[in-house]
Amino acid sequence: MKLGIVILAAGQGTRMKSSLPKVLHPLAGRPLLAHVLETARSLQPAKTVVVYGHGGERVRDTIDNPDILWVEQAEQLGTGHAVQQAMPLLQDMDKVLVLYGDVPLIRAESLQALVHEAASGLGLMTVTLDDPSGYGRIERDADGRVLRIVEQKDASEEQLAIPEINTGIMLIDTARLQGWLQELSPQNAQGEYYLTDIIAMAVRDGVDIHVTQPADTVEAEGINDCLQLASLERVLQRWQAEALMRDGVTLKDPARFDLRGSLSAGTDVVLDVNVIIEGQVVLGSNVTIGANTVLRNVQVADNVCIRENCVIEDAVIGPDSAIGPFSRIRPGTELVGGAHVGNFVEIKNSTIGLGSKVNHLSYIGDTQMGSGVNIGAGTITCNYDGAYKHQTVIEDKSFIGSNAALVAPVRIGENATIGAGSVIAKDAEAGELTLARGKQVTIRGWKRPSKEK
Ligand code: UD1
Ligand code: CA
Repeated sequence: MKLGIVILAAGQGTRMKSSLPKVLHPLAGRPLLAHVLETARSLQPAKTVVVYGHGGERVRDTIDNPDILWVEQAEQLGTGHAVQQAMPLLQDMDKVLVLYGDVPLIRAESLQALVHEAASGLGLMTVTLDDPSGYGRIERDADGRVLRIVEQKDASEEQLAIPEINTGIMLIDTARLQGWLQELSPQNAQGEYYLTDIIAMAVRDGVDIHVTQPADTVEAEGINDCLQLASLERVLQRWQAEALMRDGVTLKDPARFDLRGSLSAGTDVVLDVNVIIEGQVVLGSNVTIGANTVLRNVQVADNVCIRENCVIEDAVIGPDSAIGPFSRIRPGTELVGGAHVGNFVEIKNSTIGLGSKVNHLSYIGDTQMGSGVNIGAGTITCNYDGAYKHQTVIEDKSFIGSNAALVAPVRIGENATIGAGSVIAKDAEAGELTLARGKQVTIRGWKRPSKEK
């Protein structure tokens, strides 16, 4: 069976009150549409078509996936009209599955069940809600057979009381769909071509309607405004947290954990509250992450402790390292292993060798640091001359006294010692003490000014 998937994403999303197209609003760090596309892909369709509206260039550029076929629906004349725009691309498909770009939590298993149930006939996914207002209602006859879908705005009092609603997700035989779409007319309260009108046509033509329901009604929830976006964000975060906990990750409070990307973790990983994981993060075993720490595209090896309030981005943290609290590690940084990075330390585009320590109040940028180095409090690498960035090399076992300024390009030789408060603008010899600071003098008898009585 050749399956074509069409994802409707042309709606303006005016209720988001945003310049960002609705389907690009992020849910767990990824555009709504990306969630639907990922689920769609798991069904291994022969084709996936996304129907986008005006301003859609941004959608296409953001999603940027060569497997997707894009169709523009310049004017939003309704869901039936939207599907019609995609039909020229779907002629050679046996069946068409309709999904919505703003219904992001639909699960692959629920779609698979629909595809399986509706091997012949038409598949329709519904849910039963305590409050069905706003949705199309599923009208059934006395024997429970589906008759038609009635949109909220066209429904009678009696129909409005029906709790079973249309999720919008349907699986339809391509040739049948083609014919029914020709028959749609906008004679309804909204003046739109309703895709939902094909249900009554299918009944008329004797096509069986197979109804399935997703495991969780939240799967069918659409996003129209920022309240619904926030509500589904919490649902998805909960699901992700549960999956991690089932894999043995300890979350001190799953309600105060956010994963906006992917996280893989070894054994005995403990995440304290308000940890935010973004992009691709890999944690080894025996890793502890303190409260309020943000990790974005980071690889962390085994036996690492990252304490509270750290921000670490595009970095590699070697085994047995200790970081924080209050450390900022920026892109291009690698801690080879056993390193200590302490409070109010910023490191950018640098390698910190085995067992080296940068414990307090430092800026280390564009630096190759060897192993066993000790960097005193307040040490700064002056890597920028106003136009260019320059490298600092600090060789193994050197000791940099507190409050040194290392003016790059500069090299500190192996086992060198730099006196506290030095401004080092020339290479420092290996094994020797180098000082570059004013000599201390005592002026005897000097008096501080004092106020006259
Ligand atoms: C639709 C269904 C309704 C169902 C509900 C579920 C119809 C007529 N009604 O109503 O039965 O209960 O979804 O959420 O189908 N879209 C386009 N082009 C258009 C119109 C819509 O691409 O011209 C897209 C939207 O971007 C959205 C989806 O189709 O992703 C649904 O459109 P929307 O206007 O939200 O439909 P509803 O009125 O909610
Ligand atoms: Ca809707």
